[in-house]
Amino acid sequence: MEAQVTNVAKQAFFQLRQVKEGLCSQWTFQGLTMAIISILLCRVQGAILTEDKEVELGGNVTLRCILTGSFELVHPSWKKQTNRSSVNIAALSQNNTHTNEYIAEEYRSRLSFTSSAVNDTAITFWNVSISESSCYECIFNIFPTGPISNKTCLLVHDFHAFLHHHITDGLLNATCTATGFPPPAISWVGPADENNERKLENSNGTVSIISNILINTSSSHYGQELICKVRYRRQEIDYKVPRTEKGQ
Ligand SMILES: *[C@@H]1O[C@H](CO)[C@@H](O)[C@H](O)[C@H]1NC(C)=O
Ligand SMILES: *[C@@H]1O[C@H](CO)[C@@H](O)[C@H](O)[C@H]1NC(C)=O
Ligand SMILES: *[C@@H]1O[C@H](CO)[C@@H](O)[C@H](O)[C@H]1NC(C)=O
Ligand SMILES: *[C@@H]1O[C@H](CO)[C@@H](O)[C@H](O)[C@H]1NC(C)=O
Ligand SMILES: *[C@@H]1O[C@H](CO)[C@@H](O)[C@H](O)[C@H]1NC(C)=O
Ligand SMILES: *[C@@H]1O[C@H](CO)[C@@H](O)[C@H](O)[C@H]1NC(C)=O
Repeated sequence: MEAQVTNVAKQAFFQLRQVKEGLCSQWTFQGLTMAIISILLCRVQGAILTEDKEVELGGNVTLRCILTGSFELVHPSWKKQTNRSSVNIAALSQNNTHTNEYIAEEYRSRLSFTSSAVNDTAITFWNVSISESSCYECIFNIFPTGPISNKTCLLVHDFHAFLHHHITDGLLNATCTATGFPPPAISWVGPADENNERKLENSNGTVSIISNILINTSSSHYGQELICKVRYRRQEIDYKVPRTEKGQ
């Protein structure tokens, strides 16, 4: 029995080494056939399948990693990658029939395992904050080869924008405000006598850009089209200042 287990483990070790030694990474340089063979091999030999996720600020999101193939003693754990290092945030361990969960102190109220399978690990963040926008490493600790890992990235986003304008004492005063994460950007199309922009970092991690434009209503360019263009991720959204007849 023991010999059999060791044999299986050895085989797994050998297969994993094959995967690690380049079958998975070299496929871009090989022909299509090679790519297909590699994909098939990766499927059966300890590949970790995962995908990146996006979620709205305050929402819930699940990160998942699936280890293909069968291995001995698979303990999944999750690390958050920060600028300089990575921090353990969650881990599962199994002895006999019992599964123990570890969740780092600061995550206890907003993170939980939503799959307790050792070869299909999933963690769910509840009410996500901008600081959770990061990449996460899932690690499977396999006997006897040791840990193998993959990475999934989470983007937490939020966006609101609006335009206000009024005319006071012969001045058109228009203010475009865009709040978001990743930070938005503002530009104007049309004339301006004065333009200024402020940037605020909000307590929830989003950034507000407040752009103000002033146009003298007696100037010759008053009445031309005036548009606030807000760029957010790959979109551009136009907010138009309604045209006002000269002299009004
Ligand atoms: C997040 O999950 C909680 C608990 O299940 C639920 O009450 C809440 O509505 C969910 N939020 C969103 C944005 O789906
Ligand atoms: C995960 O393990 C279970 C039980 O050991 C097995 O039935 C299942 O096929 C495994 N999943 C994958 C993706 O290998
Ligand atoms: C979600 O988190 C924010 C700040 O992190 C907090 O102010 C808010 O009360 C939380 N909402 C819920 C429903 O827990
Ligand atoms: C333009 O309007 C904004 C808010 O509506 C106000 O804070 C600002 O002082 C105004 N600027 C001028 C020059 O009147
Ligand atoms: C984040 O903070 C900004 C500025 O206070 C606010 O406009 C925005 O609605 C907040 N986002 C969420 C999802 O609470
Ligand atoms: C607008 O322009 C007119 C003519 O150039 C000038 O007399 C007036 O003071 C300007 N108004 C403001 C608010 O700057």
